[in-house]
Amino acid sequence: MKIDEINRILNSRSVKDFTDWSERHLVYYHGFLPSIIEEGKGATLRDVTGKEYLDFASIVVSVNVGHGDKRVTDAMKEQLDLMTSTTGTFLNVPEVKLAKLVAEITPEKLTRSFFLTSGSEAVELAIKTARRYTGKLNIFSRWGGYHGNTPGALSASGAALYKRIYDPVVPGFLKIPPPYCYRCDFGLEYPDCGIVCAKVLDSAIVYEHPDTVAAVIAEPIIGGGGAVVPPDEYIPELRKICDEHGVLLILDEVITGFGRTGKMFCCEHYGVTPDVMSVAKGIGSSYVPLSAVITKDEIAEGVADHTKGVHFSTYGNHPLSCAAALANIKVIIEDKLVENAARMGEYCLKALKDMVEESPVLGEARGKGLLLGVEIVKDKETKTPDLDLGMSIRQKALEKGLYFSLSRIRMKDAVIMVFGPPLNITKEQVDRALEIFDSAVKEAQAE
Ligand SMILES: Cc1ncc(COP(=O)(O)O)c(C=O)c1O
Repeated sequence: MKIDEINRILNSRSVKDFTDWSERHLVYYHGFLPSIIEEGKGATLRDVTGKEYLDFASIVVSVNVGHGDKRVTDAMKEQLDLMTSTTGTFLNVPEVKLAKLVAEITPEKLTRSFFLTSGSEAVELAIKTARRYTGKLNIFSRWGGYHGNTPGALSASGAALYKRIYDPVVPGFLKIPPPYCYRCDFGLEYPDCGIVCAKVLDSAIVYEHPDTVAAVIAEPIIGGGGAVVPPDEYIPELRKICDEHGVLLILDEVITGFGRTGKMFCCEHYGVTPDVMSVAKGIGSSYVPLSAVITKDEIAEGVADHTKGVHFSTYGNHPLSCAAALANIKVIIEDKLVENAARMGEYCLKALKDMVEESPVLGEARGKGLLLGVEIVKDKETKTPDLDLGMSIRQKALEKGLYFSLSRIRMKDAVIMVFGPPLNITKEQVDRALEIFDSAVKEAQAE
């Protein structure tokens, strides 16, 4: 095909062409919403037909500074003109600056970073790091948790639908129940439960034997699974159990990191420093594919003997991604987005709790900062999830110009609406989203 013909095809502005090409030439490993998005500004998305959406999921709870922030895109343009690849061979300037900045804002002791591309890849390397550093195999995680789609990260994940078609995945992954108080697996109620969901880890490690267990991996708040916030003592209890048995604690802050929950890192809510942390999404607000493994000195040094093993990635420590992340983190700090996430999150959660009080089909509202979830149920007594109602609420909200995500295959069959807007969301935008959500719930319920 000649270049003129290629240009003629690709210069098309026809929505019908775009729809045809997506249906005929993409592989639908997962579903897509029908709109084709062309532009994003702040918390607003515009599709190719001109329709606008208030993005209350920040795509996949990842665009922390909002769409199209010029400070980030300008930094990227500047880096594009300078240099775009040194990976794995030379160091580059944005990479070392980003490592320094990340060390300044993470909890003390988490001073060493390695930059990769996706959240799954960061989890994969966190697991490899734990296995290599401890010389042990087994990794504990929780049912209902999500850590990514590559074989190791998938093995740590508890979401059956993502996993079972690929079974058997990777050996050496063991599960305990999640801290899902709304539907407690032990049939108990907090605080009388004595957080048995954490304490069970102690027995599990003893049964498997501490000599076989390399690490426990957990999202401090289960994010995509439905903003499942654990009791305050839960994460400190995991830390204590890990310490008692010489097991590493990996906290997966892919969703929760970089201000999402109203602290720069979610582990700060619990006063816990993990041994290894995986981050992605908010580190570059998804302007670029970027993730990181962040760890302590002794672990970084423990894996630095290259005669014993190497981890290498062609796109690791990418200068363009690191330059974008530097600008992105500066925006988070300069615009006080962590504080705004805490403030707007509290405001939004209170309003959602008021809606739950009034509604027979909203079972519980919960969350921290701007990571919020609402259970959609047939009735409050049985707590039976209502998938049809959840789908209908989301569809009606989309028609009215509000986008949020719907979690429906992770915490068993629970149907949970997840709000995770950009961290610079305003009170007016929150009010508009709540108004649309409320009317979508009422209309869907009346049908
Ligand atoms: C907590 C957590 N870990 C890991 C991942 C995987 O990240 P990615 O989709 O970038 O591979 C996700 C994705 O949503 C996540 O929420």
